Amino acid sequence: MEGKVVEVQAAWREGAHVDDAQYRAMYEASVSDPDAFWGEHGKRIDWMTPFTKVKNTSFAPGQVSIKWFEDGKTNVAYNCIDRHLETRGDQTAIIWEGDNPDESKHITYRELHAQVCRMANVLRNRGVSKGDRVTLYMPMIPEAAYAMLACARLGAIHAIVFGGFSPDSLASRIQGCTSKVVITADEGLRGGRKVPLKANVDEAIKRLGSDLVEHVIVVRRTGGSVAMEPGRDVYYDEAAEQVTDHCPAEAVEAEHPLFILYTSGSTGQPKGVVHTTGGYLVYASMTHQYVFDYREGDVYWCTADVGWVTGHSYIVYGPLANGATTLMFEGIPTYPSTSRFWEVVDKHKVNIFYTAPTAIRSLMGGGEGPVKKTSRQSLRVLGSVGEPINPEAWEWYYNVVGEQRCSIVDTWWQTETGGILITPLPGATALKPGSATRPFFGVTPEMVDAEGKVLQGPCEGNLCIADSWPGQMRTVYGDHERFEQTYFSTYPGKYFTGDGARRDADGYYWITGRVDDVINVSGHRMGTAEVESSLVAHPKVAEAAVVGYPHNVKGQGIYAYVTLNDGEEGDDALRKELVTWVRKDIGPIASPDLIQFAPGLPKTRSGKIMRRILRKIAEDDFGSLGDTSTLAEPAVVDDLIENRQNRP
Ligand code: WT7
Repeated sequence: MEGKVVEVQAAWREGAHVDDAQYRAMYEASVSDPDAFWGEHGKRIDWMTPFTKVKNTSFAPGQVSIKWFEDGKTNVAYNCIDRHLETRGDQTAIIWEGDNPDESKHITYRELHAQVCRMANVLRNRGVSKGDRVTLYMPMIPEAAYAMLACARLGAIHAIVFGGFSPDSLASRIQGCTSKVVITADEGLRGGRKVPLKANVDEAIKRLGSDLVEHVIVVRRTGGSVAMEPGRDVYYDEAAEQVTDHCPAEAVEAEHPLFILYTSGSTGQPKGVVHTTGGYLVYASMTHQYVFDYREGDVYWCTADVGWVTGHSYIVYGPLANGATTLMFEGIPTYPSTSRFWEVVDKHKVNIFYTAPTAIRSLMGGGEGPVKKTSRQSLRVLGSVGEPINPEAWEWYYNVVGEQRCSIVDTWWQTETGGILITPLPGATALKPGSATRPFFGVTPEMVDAEGKVLQGPCEGNLCIADSWPGQMRTVYGDHERFEQTYFSTYPGKYFTGDGARRDADGYYWITGRVDDVINVSGHRMGTAEVESSLVAHPKVAEAAVVGYPHNVKGQGIYAYVTLNDGEEGDDALRKELVTWVRKDIGPIASPDLIQFAPGLPKTRSGKIMRRILRKIAEDDFGSLGDTSTLAEPAVVDDLIENRQNRP
């Protein structure tokens, strides 16, 4: 094989779900006869009405339509809870580890059932029924999972908004899917600091300036005092006392929406990604089992937040559908110390650990000491997700955290894909540090050049997927045309991921990053257009262009070029003001890292901003700007270089 290879260890193969030969055989079967393959694996979940049809999908221009198991009926909460009660009612479903290391609790499948039924009844009493949207703005507490599953139980559609988003962002998402009910908490708690969730909800509703939101359900987390609007707001514990813990699970069609999750793209406002019931759950549970080589009795921990798709598929739905014990962590990797992750691993004897490269890189900075003082003997599989993992971080994860004993799974996927698409399997795949390796069952990657020509063999190009898989998003909420336009029009007949990649001689994929105007900050997606429109809304700003640049810990940082209105002075005070402005407008994850005041931006004669040049300067790579002769005003480039902000 080409390049550095870490072979599958005998210990990883022992007891694993598949070895290399089995992977190859199953992969071949999955792509040569998807109907037969998924018809079989579709039975891994329980159906109230069994399906007879399996795959009915088209990527054809103008008629994109994706349906899996369409005549079957099932319920996600039933599959994640009820069907386990007989065999594992007393097994822990969720281990909750609080921000404060002295706080943790175990919730059994039986308790989960009672809690979810209660939450479902509280919702039903407030008029929530099948198809209604419910917005969740929650901290990482068990009630977040209860609320998701309670919606699923009723056939209601949850739309989670990450707690780090601002009131404005929350407002536009509530409006976008017209939620009449919001579930939140008084305050969140992260790294010892309080997050004013309820106050943000109040602010968001005020900005909506309508009576769209009829009910706000407030879980008490910190007990901090918050304003309660009579008739609209209710504390969850008080409402829960009024209902029973019995609530039947509604059988819904396989294609009934399970959730909406907003995600950033290269243009316009965030899109509401729609995932449905049957195919999504089959795919989330199957990938959870095979990718992490999940085994009966394992304790599994994904450090993501439920506000992102990783939390949906790999904290809640995949693991619970498999009857696993899933750990939910309220805190952050550095509180109270940088040993926290590994202390939690030891405390709960975690076998499978799944995190993001940005967390690994930030902990690497603290050296081996904080890791070495913990045991970590329980660990078997280490996962990575969210952005390319650089080989140095991979080696540290493998050598220091895993002590060369654990397999590493670098999992590539997207909010849109519902589950993992390209990944090693622990018992099967020889590893290469920095490569997400090979496609999961049923996934057909295709590399194309800029003209859309399909490339063969080793190559570099744009990553597409040729055919549908069950976990794929079905539409953009309320805008199917935008769905087709965004994902199926660049290379007609294929799903375009927005990522660039390299395929090596062994058929391994190396994701190189986004090729569109999306940047990946600490594993979170941010549209440059969103940050730009926030900046230009500031009264002193005339124009703004935002690009990503390499950042040691975050992967990519946000670099903003800002042209001020005539007469305005760009100084550090204004830089601070603009950062605060964007944080308030979108949320802390959108904070620009570097702001350069520029008297002019490089534009073509037709007025198009030449981002290629801005990216190069932001990368501190201005020696190779390429052809600048087509610029309307070539002289602006000299000023941009002279005043560049990213200097070593
Ligand atoms: C984008 C999707 C899906 C989980 C969290 C992010 C990048 C994700 C990897 C990986 C290289 C990766 C891609 C992708 N990405 N995982 N293992 N290696 N890049 O979800 O916010 O929808 O972002 O994250 O660029 O397109 P998301």
